[in-house]
Amino acid sequence: MISVNSLSKKFNNLLAVDQVSFEVKQGEILGFLGPNGAGKTTTMKMLTCFIPPSSGNAEICGYSILDDPLKVRNQIGYLPESAPSYDEMLVGEFLKFVAEIRGYSGMELKRRVGIVIEKTSLNDVENQMIDTLSKGFRQRTCLAQALLHDPPVLILDEPTDGLDPNQKHEVRCLIKEMSEEHTILISTHILEEVEAVCTNTMIIAKGKVVGYGTPDELLSRSMYRNSVTVSLKDEEPRKLLNEFNQLDFVYSVEHLQEDRENVVTMRLYPNNKESISMKLEEYLFEKKAQLEHFSVDRGKLDEVFRQLTAVD
Ligand SMILES: Nc1ncnc2c1ncn2[C@@H]1O[C@H](COP(=O)(O)OP(=O)(O)O)[C@@H](O)[C@H]1O
Ligand SMILES: [Mg+2]
Repeated sequence: MISVNSLSKKFNNLLAVDQVSFEVKQGEILGFLGPNGAGKTTTMKMLTCFIPPSSGNAEICGYSILDDPLKVRNQIGYLPESAPSYDEMLVGEFLKFVAEIRGYSGMELKRRVGIVIEKTSLNDVENQMIDTLSKGFRQRTCLAQALLHDPPVLILDEPTDGLDPNQKHEVRCLIKEMSEEHTILISTHILEEVEAVCTNTMIIAKGKVVGYGTPDELLSRSMYRNSVTVSLKDEEPRKLLNEFNQLDFVYSVEHLQEDRENVVTMRLYPNNKESISMKLEEYLFEKKAQLEHFSVDRGKLDEVFRQLTAVD
């Protein structure tokens, strides 16, 4: 649905996007991750034909952004960064206005506006001025605008930026719902978002793709992958550290300084990031350890993110 081929954008001397290539298949939600200034918005603006690339090309549903910009725009619903719209318009008016621009009129226009208002739960604020909306409703109004022509592809630039946790949750649910009918490219610098909604993740830094995979594939690069944190009662920390270090499936042990009275907490790192939970459980059982806590870490995305995007 989206096929990007060596896309670059230069602003004067700054290479904001540097030969980026990727694909998004039907039904996928690709999370576009990167620090501020990495080139996410610039890439999205090129894909939505707001700015031309300096070199490279991209196709949306088979239409080239260079040769068929109008057809490309028809295939895309775009939520730009910080959801701009017309402050002094009423929500309903704004949506009708956009629908007219999209070429609808009469019953069809009414029908389409009705559908998107329903989808984004804007019923209560239809007659409210956009200026007076909370940020969450503003975001939804802009999302409604992007859905009017029922496009197969959605490009959402930081759709949950600046929302409170409840609003974030709502927008994420909405995005998941929409993924049943749409292919979605969503940019964010919020890592939990990626795990919450994306089927695939691409990390960019300084305009270059530095990581790509499912969230789990990226997590498997973490140094915490399959590490186990245990809290035991009535143990002598030094002795325990020694015991753990001698286990053949353990690569290294870290004494976490979060001990409470009579409780020692340690993190065990496996050899080659292998799963050691079964072996460790057996060991602790035989040792008759008094287990307070046992958890396996899938990996920490923020650590992988820093590994891949660290500026040196
Ligand atoms: N119109 C522009 N003129 C000059 N530089 C720009 C312009 N737009 C973006 N940039 C620069 O390009 C880089 C990438 O920006 P952007 O794509 O907005 O990053 P992101 O969305 O990942 O935070 C930044 O260094 C930014 O300052
Ligand atoms: Mg941006």
